[in-house]
Amino acid sequence: MSSNKNVFASKVGAILAAAGSAVGLGNVWRFPTETGANGGAAFILIYVLFMLVLGVPIMVTEFAIGRHGGKDVTHAFEKMSGGKRGWRWMGLVPVVSGFLVLSYYAVVAGWTLYYAYEALIGGFAGKTSEAFTNDFQTFSSDSLQPVFWMAIIIALTCGIVALGVQKGIERGAKIMMPLLFVFILVLVACSLSLPDAGKGLTFLFMPDFSKVTSSVILSAMGQAFFSLSVGLGCLCTYACYFRKDIDLMKDGLSVASIDTLVALLSGLIIFPAVYSISGLSPDAGPSLVFITLPNVFQQVFGNLPWLAYIFSLIFYLLLVMAALTSSISMLEMSAAYFHKNLRLSRPLAAIIVSVVCLILGTFCSWSFGDWSEVKVFGLNFFDLFDFLVAKLIMPIGGMLMCIFLGWVVDEKVLCAEMTNHGTIKSPLYPTYRFIIRYVAPLCIFLIFANELGLFNWS
Ligand code: PFF
Repeated sequence: MSSNKNVFASKVGAILAAAGSAVGLGNVWRFPTETGANGGAAFILIYVLFMLVLGVPIMVTEFAIGRHGGKDVTHAFEKMSGGKRGWRWMGLVPVVSGFLVLSYYAVVAGWTLYYAYEALIGGFAGKTSEAFTNDFQTFSSDSLQPVFWMAIIIALTCGIVALGVQKGIERGAKIMMPLLFVFILVLVACSLSLPDAGKGLTFLFMPDFSKVTSSVILSAMGQAFFSLSVGLGCLCTYACYFRKDIDLMKDGLSVASIDTLVALLSGLIIFPAVYSISGLSPDAGPSLVFITLPNVFQQVFGNLPWLAYIFSLIFYLLLVMAALTSSISMLEMSAAYFHKNLRLSRPLAAIIVSVVCLILGTFCSWSFGDWSEVKVFGLNFFDLFDFLVAKLIMPIGGMLMCIFLGWVVDEKVLCAEMTNHGTIKSPLYPTYRFIIRYVAPLCIFLIFANELGLFNWS
């Protein structure tokens, strides 16, 4: 155990905190949606490939920079570059990204909390599919209700971050992550026992490569980035609190494995459930989780209402916890900067960031209602923030971090970080270095160029 309060006390705590950041709505909500929209198993195979080739190396890169820097991300880049001050501005990426990503993520997190509440009070009982659709539309486009639920999510996140690295972030992850696993396993068991569950399994595990297009490949790459929380410097921020004896490569692989496992298990919950009712489609889009699923729970367990009640409640609680462990890491990115650089107390820094995110989040929430026509560069606020984070900052941030570690940082410094100063073996180090020097920057450049329409592949 470490007595320094600004360091994760245990190795398990560090892995769970990083896994908590990675495992989130991206796994339980976005992954099934993307899988459904992109044809199933073939998409999953490509996604796993990108996880290994790009996701894990960038994650390890973030770990190395953060841990080497120790105190704070802004100084981490300068320290690792051997004192080149120009690299310091890279440390501002997580600060700005924290605000942007939390502001729109908290909107959907708020929806999950509202649905958990509805499940708790038995609000889904006896509803028809039309009622589910109408209720979701009415709720998400309301100007007050979703903002209220988002405010609760942000307040909970703020409370945990204010408690500090060990008592807040680490303890929160140690409680929520095991619980999340238990919930998932219970739901997978229930879902697999549904009639026609086999069709869902076929969709998930039998690849049909004729469905693979360039846009499927790009979506798989984007999903790998978002799901692992890489590119924004979020894991860099957490790695500042890593102990010196942590094996960065091993931890990176563990976090990626946990993240992929949760995504696949979420698929195992959702697709057998969707296929168990004829007429429902796996490509229902983002509403899959808020319209299709509660409808499924009611219909399949129609004559066992208590089972529908429990299934729905556990499912939405699972979503809330997954969202919280990620939103904590988002708030920490910005709050840590104000706490350490402006010398504000941790609670005050967390409160300031939370209030700003609540205001920005309100604009994002209104994008589904009154402000749907308020557009910047042709996008409403919610889509604009998502675009900035997932399509701009994540790829550019990931690419710059790879170039930084692969080309700017002295190789001896990198090697010392990966082998804990020669105390552990790192057999994958040469492969890792090759990837961050050549493969990752090139791949990301290609995705990015395509996103900007430079190649017009898709
Ligand atoms: N990885 C999280 C998820 O899958 O929900 C989302 C996320 C967390 C993205 C933290 C970015 C980040 F910095």
